[in-house]
Amino acid sequence: MKPPNESTTDSAAGDDARGRVSQAHDGSGLSRRRFLQAVGLGATAASIPEEGLLGKTVAPVRTGEDSWGPNAVPVTLNVNGESLSLKVEPRVTLLDALRNHMQLDTQEAVDLTGPKRVCDRSSCGACTVMIDGKTVYACSVLAVEAQGSEITTIEGFGDVSSLHPVQDEFVQCDGSQCGFCTPGFVVSSIALLRDNPSPSGEEIDHALAGNICRCGTQVRVKEAVQKAAHRLREGR
Ligand code: FES
Ligand code: FES
Repeated sequence: MKPPNESTTDSAAGDDARGRVSQAHDGSGLSRRRFLQAVGLGATAASIPEEGLLGKTVAPVRTGEDSWGPNAVPVTLNVNGESLSLKVEPRVTLLDALRNHMQLDTQEAVDLTGPKRVCDRSSCGACTVMIDGKTVYACSVLAVEAQGSEITTIEGFGDVSSLHPVQDEFVQCDGSQCGFCTPGFVVSSIALLRDNPSPSGEEIDHALAGNICRCGTQVRVKEAVQKAAHRLREGR
């Protein structure tokens, strides 16, 4: 199996898969599950540009027969200032690695379920995190690809005892109902205010256009961002 950053075409992936099927029919012992894993990885590999989804070369995970999966490989992620080691299949997204693998794999008390999985296809913004200071949808980045970057989740901006002003204003302004969209909105709002400390209403709408609230809290969210901007300008 070729590593994801090597040039791979759909047809090459298909030929590889077909070769494996015929091996299975020949009685070579390739299981159906293993075949499906191989096909899944082939499709993923074919869709990733050589420079990776984040626009940089994907770091090699390890050397050896299973360097690029489909089995789990060691991955080190720098999350909220901590270096965390886990083992995930190369197809696992950053979102799933954060939410589902951290405690299990690292055996540490890390709880990173703030980024939410809602659409799982880059449509809603509920999974928004920062990578090297830029907002990204964690459901659309592979965990292996996020190695070597600074990842910041909602948990990295404040906690219950010490809320970030944006988090606090979401509470004060009642900018949340079911709360599924809230972590993503907060991360996007913090990113906006870092770049633009005095955004107009239109600029707030534009910056948060990639986040969707199905409960209809947008008016309160906007109010929270405006009040947080005011506080941050005053250093409160
Ligand atoms: S869950 Fe990632 S954009 Fe919706
Ligand atoms: S508060 Fe429910 S989706 Fe936004």
